[in-house]
Amino acid sequence: MREKLRISVLGLLLLSLAACGGSAKKTLAIGAILPLTGPAASAGDEAYKSLMLAVEEANASQRLAPYTLEVVVRDDVSDPKQAVSSAKDLASNPAVLGVIAHFNSGCYMPASRVYHENGLPAITPAASNPSITQQGFPEIHRIVPTDQVQGEAVGKFIAKRGVKRLAIIHDKTQYGEPLAGMVRASAEQSGVKVISYDGIQVGDKDFRALLTSLRSKNPEAVFFGGLYDEGGLIVKQMRELGMTQTFHGPDGIKGKDFIDVAGAAANGAYVSFIGNNADALPSARSLLENYQKRFNKPIENFGPYAYDVAGVFIAVLENLVKRGETPTRAAVLAELGKIRYEGAMGFAEFDERGDNKNRAISFYRVDNGQFVFVEAIGESSS
Ligand code: ALA
Repeated sequence: MREKLRISVLGLLLLSLAACGGSAKKTLAIGAILPLTGPAASAGDEAYKSLMLAVEEANASQRLAPYTLEVVVRDDVSDPKQAVSSAKDLASNPAVLGVIAHFNSGCYMPASRVYHENGLPAITPAASNPSITQQGFPEIHRIVPTDQVQGEAVGKFIAKRGVKRLAIIHDKTQYGEPLAGMVRASAEQSGVKVISYDGIQVGDKDFRALLTSLRSKNPEAVFFGGLYDEGGLIVKQMRELGMTQTFHGPDGIKGKDFIDVAGAAANGAYVSFIGNNADALPSARSLLENYQKRFNKPIENFGPYAYDVAGVFIAVLENLVKRGETPTRAAVLAELGKIRYEGAMGFAEFDERGDNKNRAISFYRVDNGQFVFVEAIGESSS
């Protein structure tokens, strides 16, 4: 936290110097609003560290000369209210030209209106609720596939494994609940019977009553739409209750936290991820190696997409600077509509809604506490 704070304070200082014309150094600024504390802090921390790598690389290469790129960072704590107030804070800072925006759909959804009202371009590296980009807000972008794509793929994946009776649990959030609905629709379409559909509360720790009732209904698999804390506890308590059904979870549980919470009960779980399998991409190799070297741990989930979102903004700013255009929010937005960016995770090109046309879903199985790649279902429209 201290490191983050130092970067942010330094960033603000440089920005204010630049704004007053009191510095010889010319800076451009982008914002980053992520969960640096709270229930998704480890995902937010990985995303933050990754995007800072992209910014450091850009500054070291002087791609944006005569400018240096600064990041103004805020913590949304995975809390919608905090997300909105952080979004307002950055929107009121005229130096901020774009935002790397949020991990949780529940944060990006309400904050998206703030970006829209302030003409501030935003790209999320992770928030996947499809409705966010269906509001007709031109500023709102997303680099990962939506839960429409993920839900369809998960339903088919579960059917393909021969499951006939599926229990679905969701966390009642703007992420977990619609995703669970999309998994249900897709599974039913593929001939799977959804025998139960229940919501739990984020923060709850004891799911035994619900699981005991599910056990008596005899499902062959359980899908949970939500994040790693609840997902980890659900699979752990399933095993404690003698339930041997396969556990399926989405991108929100892909990370070491799920394994830490579930322990050995995580083994055998299937987990989907909204995007490509970074480990298999030559374009992601140097990022994965640099991250490991720098932070002494591997990238586990949305780091590469946060890195690429920063990369998209950097490429956009570079195009503007090279053409001699003044980098404004409006200029960044116009350029985002045109750009085709080749990043660590493959191409990024935004459709009319602001969603990436690159839409692969990857599946993993947990083996010996590791996420082992199983297959990818690709759907890319160019
Ligand atoms: N994809 C997850 C969400 O939208 C992280 O909240």
